[in-house]
Amino acid sequence: MKLSAVFLSLLVIMTLTASSCYYDVEEELYPAGNCDTMNVSFAADVMPLFNQQCNICHATGVELGNVNLDSYTAVLPYVNNGKLVGSISHKNGFSAMPQGQPKLSSCTIDKITAWIAAGAPNN
Ligand code: HEC
Repeated sequence: MKLSAVFLSLLVIMTLTASSCYYDVEEELYPAGNCDTMNVSFAADVMPLFNQQCNICHATGVELGNVNLDSYTAVLPYVNNGKLVGSISHKNGFSAMPQGQPKLSSCTIDKITAWIAAGAPNN
């Protein structure tokens, strides 16, 4: 094999290796851009998410860690004491949620944060 052929093969191998590091996570390909955080609704966005991701552990009657996320009035204290955002953002000093599962997508976290920034309305 000629030296130039060796270099060419090396180049091909390096290119293949480098491109195999890419993975198509939508959120990382289009950061923030297509995450709609306007007019987040408690009833349409936040509560369904809690029911899906959290309430296997935090519904009335289960209430792991004495935390109930079953209704607007139940959720509000965790908005006000910062534990909701602390736990889903995996901040130091808070228990990382959802427990034993991957962190929520940053768009989901952004939506919850935006809802709280809007005054956590019961909308
Ligand atoms: C598999 C069960 C499970 C799931 C799912 C789960 N949690 Fe928890 N959560 C716990 C347990 C157990 C505790 C109490 C022990 C602890 O703090 O680690 C807790 C504690 C918390 C606390 C108090 C945190 C603190 O630092 O005091 C908050 C807030 C919370 N969860 C929110 C959520 C939210 C929001 C979700 C969904 C995105 C969720 N949890 C999903 C089990 C769960």
